[in-house]
Amino acid sequence: MMSDCSASDSGKKTLKAVAIIGSGGRLGGSLAMRWGGRFRLELYPKSLLDLKDLDAVVRCVEKSEASWVVNCAAMTRLEVCEREPELAFAVNARAPAVLGKVCERLGKRLVHFSTDYVFDGRKASPYSEEDAPNPLSTYAKSKLEGERNVLEADGGHFVFRVSWVFGPGRTAFPDEIIQKSLRGETLRVAFDKWSSPTSAFDVGDFLGMLIERDEQVGGLYHVCNSGGCSWVEYAEATLEIASELLLPLKTRQVYPVSLEELGFLSAPRPPYSVLSTSKVERLFGVRMRGWREALGEYLREFYGRKEEGGMS
Ligand SMILES: NC(=O)c1ccc[n+]([C@@H]2O[C@H](COP(=O)([O-])OP(=O)(O)OC[C@H]3O[C@@H](n4cnc5c(N)ncnc54)[C@H](OP(=O)(O)O)[C@@H]3O)[C@@H](O)[C@H]2O)c1
Repeated sequence: MMSDCSASDSGKKTLKAVAIIGSGGRLGGSLAMRWGGRFRLELYPKSLLDLKDLDAVVRCVEKSEASWVVNCAAMTRLEVCEREPELAFAVNARAPAVLGKVCERLGKRLVHFSTDYVFDGRKASPYSEEDAPNPLSTYAKSKLEGERNVLEADGGHFVFRVSWVFGPGRTAFPDEIIQKSLRGETLRVAFDKWSSPTSAFDVGDFLGMLIERDEQVGGLYHVCNSGGCSWVEYAEATLEIASELLLPLKTRQVYPVSLEELGFLSAPRPPYSVLSTSKVERLFGVRMRGWREALGEYLREFYGRKEEGGMS
């Protein structure tokens, strides 16, 4: 299927059609890579579908052949959201509302992504879906409104809260640590912020399973790798695995600093936002593997030596 607003890997008519909105981003790009050959993908990067244009959103979903629409698009840069709140709410809250309604009207299932940042970070144990959100930033407020709008549409839609996503779609924290270390830069990393690293490929495998079986139980879920860590632990684990892969790292020491000392993150962020995965594990009978295992697999696949099948 080729519509005026989609690019499709056509010719695989027997596969279930899935639309990915925001396919140019970290998560959307990773899902597109993971699902090639598994689904017939309609890819909508921002250049083909801008969520600010709500009429275009409706037209696009109406023309789409996909029975599942996966919305990975969002304004994700917190500092930009603080500067442009109108735009943040348009993209992160109003567009998901329209997506939810149009999908519901057409009998399509919507999967929308939200964030651990809906919480204020005052808890000291993993957040469950039952915990009350208290968003601190414009980004987080707009994302919370977006997830509520999607669930209100009553189409059996899914909202997945993810956090600290890594994957090949776009550079993420572990890639930055490796690049800085390869260049010999000092690694100053925050010790006072904890969350749950999330493998985009693991999200894709879990969601792919739900799509394949046309899962009817929608709702709000925390979907990330299990266990939580601080940014320092995340950086140290990355360097450890990169060392095992014999990457020519020049700096191997992580210097723990406070988030405040880092200085460049001006929008408020929750200090602790580790997510509990027990709801998805209980309801869907899956095990969300630990973040170290998932990180190791990603780094081996994309940084391992060519003769071992890696990319670089
Ligand atoms: N990455 C994380 O650690 C993390 C953590 C928690 C939650 N999440 C959530 O996970 C989802 C995916 O995030 P991500 O990590 O893939 O972020 P990302 O790499 O920033 O991707 C977001 C995508 O949305 C696109 N976009 C921005 N404004 C748009 C608009 N007006 N219309 C259409 N597309 C637009 C961006 O395009 P441009 O880049 O061209 O602007 C980008 O391709 C989001 O819902 C995010 O809130 C991510």
